[in-house]
Amino acid sequence: MTESVLPLVVQCCEMPTDEIRAAHVQGKIRLRVWKPGPSDHLCANRAWVLEQVPGASAILCVLNVKMDSEIMDAAGPSLRVVSTMSVGFDHIDLEAAKARHVRVGHTPSVLNDAVADLTLLLMLMITRRAMESARVGFTGPSLHGKTIGLIGFGGIAQTLVTKLQAFHPGRILYKTSAPKPFDLKNPAFSFLAADPLFSSYIQVHGSPPVPVENEPDLHTLAAESDIVVVLANLSASTHHVVDAAFLEKMKPSAYLVNVSRGGLVDTAALIHALHADQIAGAALDVVEGEPNIPADHGLLAPELADKVVLLSHIASGTIETRHAMASLCARNGLGALGLLADGSEMPAEVQT
Ligand code: GLV
Repeated sequence: MTESVLPLVVQCCEMPTDEIRAAHVQGKIRLRVWKPGPSDHLCANRAWVLEQVPGASAILCVLNVKMDSEIMDAAGPSLRVVSTMSVGFDHIDLEAAKARHVRVGHTPSVLNDAVADLTLLLMLMITRRAMESARVGFTGPSLHGKTIGLIGFGGIAQTLVTKLQAFHPGRILYKTSAPKPFDLKNPAFSFLAADPLFSSYIQVHGSPPVPVENEPDLHTLAAESDIVVVLANLSASTHHVVDAAFLEKMKPSAYLVNVSRGGLVDTAALIHALHADQIAGAALDVVEGEPNIPADHGLLAPELADKVVLLSHIASGTIETRHAMASLCARNGLGALGLLADGSEMPAEVQT
């Protein structure tokens, strides 16, 4: 193939993508990669993407730039795939992709462990008052015997359930978009079924070590949980699922943990609930408006310092997980272009 007819791949972020580099070295693709200067963000800004995508067949992206009709139109009719190095794809306009016959790839499953681990870190930091510990004496509640309420019950939530067993909570409740009674034979619970300890315990005892129950009513889950963990995708139906009414239902001793997307929690309502002692605290890896969180943001108010843990969206950030995500992102991109060495298709395609 002559150079100009090779498919163009635009990679918007530094990623450890061996597969992409190999395809480039083997002369299968043209490649444009964002190379940050010393004061630049690790990932390209929108202006760079718009400038680089004309004629692209594949865009490899992360969350920071909205992949919308403007970017797809700038790429033009050559565009076959937008592949994101994230499990969430709320930054990709699926309607626009579908209308332009552009396929969408994401990176589910490979980050379940890393995100579940960070969720546990946040649960322990907020309950055991890690922020105050440098300054004052304190005690905080144990997870033992507590009710954990999960909003969303996909791969990450199920992985969290397997890890939580070691902390002996009293009960785990989960809320799914449509009622989904706990049943390991249902493929929707495949992440739990795949855990050898969890599934063999059920085989022997007929039930999990800690009761796991579907709670279809959001406000009942709010009222009964000692820790609510938000683990659902962001969509029109989950936007602000934790709102003022939800927070009012929570116990004053309860905590909120969010590791999914900021938009699932109404930040203004959360700030109010924390000031009003409606809940005991919040531990957040994500927040509306990130990464631009000014120093005077309401969640950073000095009065809330001991009630809020705020991390900078690092849940999937283990070296191993980021390599696995980059590889899956690359394989989605190359698969859509028919360039995977084994001839296989996109391994993780979002249905548009
Ligand atoms: C991270 O937030 C992801 O969606 O992978």
